[in-house]
Amino acid sequence: MMKFSLIVAMDKNHGIGKNNDLMWHLPKDMRFFKSTTENQVVIMGRKNYDSIPEKYRPLSNRQNVIITRNKAFKATNCLVFHTVDEALNHFINDEREVFIIGGGEIYKIALNLEGLEKMYITNVDGVFNADTFFPSFDKTLWNEEKIMSQELDEKHQFTFNTFLYTRISDK
Ligand SMILES: NC(=O)c1ccc[n+]([C@@H]2O[C@H](COP(=O)([O-])OP(=O)(O)OC[C@H]3O[C@@H](n4cnc5c(N)ncnc54)[C@H](OP(=O)(O)O)[C@@H]3O)[C@@H](O)[C@H]2O)c1
Repeated sequence: MMKFSLIVAMDKNHGIGKNNDLMWHLPKDMRFFKSTTENQVVIMGRKNYDSIPEKYRPLSNRQNVIITRNKAFKATNCLVFHTVDEALNHFINDEREVFIIGGGEIYKIALNLEGLEKMYITNVDGVFNADTFFPSFDKTLWNEEKIMSQELDEKHQFTFNTFLYTRISDK
């Protein structure tokens, strides 16, 4: 079974985005996303890819992978697959950590796969008017470790806490 991770930032209602964009600007969380996924593999839905400003995509120093049903879709320096399974299996013999990086449709698929073994989740302390959500999941199946937190400051208008969830293998 192909083992993989996911990384997400969500609000108190599991909101992750609105109008195909993020809802907050939290530089420390952006840095965490970059340092965690750098030199690894990132798998994203086509809408998530579209939401990244052109000058920042593909995301630097990472193998970018896009999931779409569109057989004609191409993006420079990106791999394209038509199912999440195909994309994951492509990296089965790869040393790199493989991350699902959203958005909502792709997280939903990932949460249902047994190979998902780690989730890096930032909980932003606010409620935003989201139109896209992270699925709810059974916390009793996961070990939870707090790995970062942020207070209010001039660069962060919201506090947040970041957790690493590791699947409890005997459940
Ligand atoms: N807060 C966070 O951590 C975070 C992270 C990532 C994204 N986001 C936000 O999430 C939102 C985007 O999420 P989303 O749910 O709208 O879209 P998405 O999951 O990024 O992409 C959806 C697209 O993926 C493709 N797709 C979905 N299921 C598929 C399947 N079974 N087989 C093949 N292709 C499939 C389709 O592409 P085609 O239409 O091309 O066929 C579909 O339109 C944005 O607001 C973004 O800012 C937030």
